[in-house]
Amino acid sequence: MLTLENVNVVFGKGTPDENHALKNVNLKIAKGDFITVIGSNGAGKSTLLNAIAGSVMSESGSIRLNAGGAGELDVTKQSEHRRARFIGRIFQNPLLGTAGNMSLEDNMVVCEKKGYRGLRLGLNNARREMFRERIGKLSLGLERRLRDNVALFSGGQRQALTLLMAVMSRPEVLLLDEHTAALDPVNAERVLSLTKEFARDFHLTVLMITHNMKNALDMGNRLLMMDAGEIILDIGGNEKQNLTLADLQERFRAAKRRDLANDEMLLS
Ligand SMILES: Nc1ncnc2c1ncn2[C@@H]1O[C@H](COP(=O)(O)OP(=O)(O)OP(=O)(O)O)[C@@H](O)[C@H]1O
Ligand SMILES: [Mg+2]
Repeated sequence: MLTLENVNVVFGKGTPDENHALKNVNLKIAKGDFITVIGSNGAGKSTLLNAIAGSVMSESGSIRLNAGGAGELDVTKQSEHRRARFIGRIFQNPLLGTAGNMSLEDNMVVCEKKGYRGLRLGLNNARREMFRERIGKLSLGLERRLRDNVALFSGGQRQALTLLMAVMSRPEVLLLDEHTAALDPVNAERVLSLTKEFARDFHLTVLMITHNMKNALDMGNRLLMMDAGEIILDIGGNEKQNLTLADLQERFRAAKRRDLANDEMLLS
């Protein structure tokens, strides 16, 4: 449903700081894939997600998206704004995904507008009900705070809400860039389990960057490891299910193209 062919991203082209952040990346993502993405700092993980979302443009190659019913769309040259109809994104910073100066209810309305544009009012009402129900199921007590400004909520509450809003706008692909890294362990765990639950219930296609090896192993059906702008490991199916941390370390050492001083950090 999402195909990247020979995607290249070069920052600072022609300058002394030229940086080939994605090198001929080829990737085919199937509908319903939940892919965890690992790799050390600067490996190109965020750039991969940025290239998919259109916040950085690929120099060459193509990015094609099979958006429900509309057939395959070539989005390579499409702006980030146009692709946002199909792509949901969540970042590390819990303040980015929701508008702090608006109430929870108003945030929900914005989210509705982003999602099912042009639907009949009745359907939107049904959706709002579903939204409220889901907010209740977050077990964060937010159903009693619909009129409160989102700025009053904790980082964990906001990130859970961001996740819910992203999911409710029914993206074809959900891109998560270390979306629990800024949360305390309890909230991180809660948001991760919501991520799993939503992915299952809404049949989402997900790319999730994480520095937590355990999460990368435990979650999803496929794992990518990046290094120096390339995907150096792509493990799916049973192999992924049975993969241990020791296997991953071994595979990484065998696959990497250069000596990394920070192996230990990557694989901690
Ligand atoms: N907008 C940009 N302009 C210039 N260089 C950039 C830009 N974004 C990323 N880079 C560079 O591209 C390389 C890949 O960065 P990227 O952010 O994709 O790494 P990452 O794997 O997400 O790392 P981290 O784990 O630290 O988030 C790095 O060398 C980075 O400095
Ligand atoms: Mg990053």
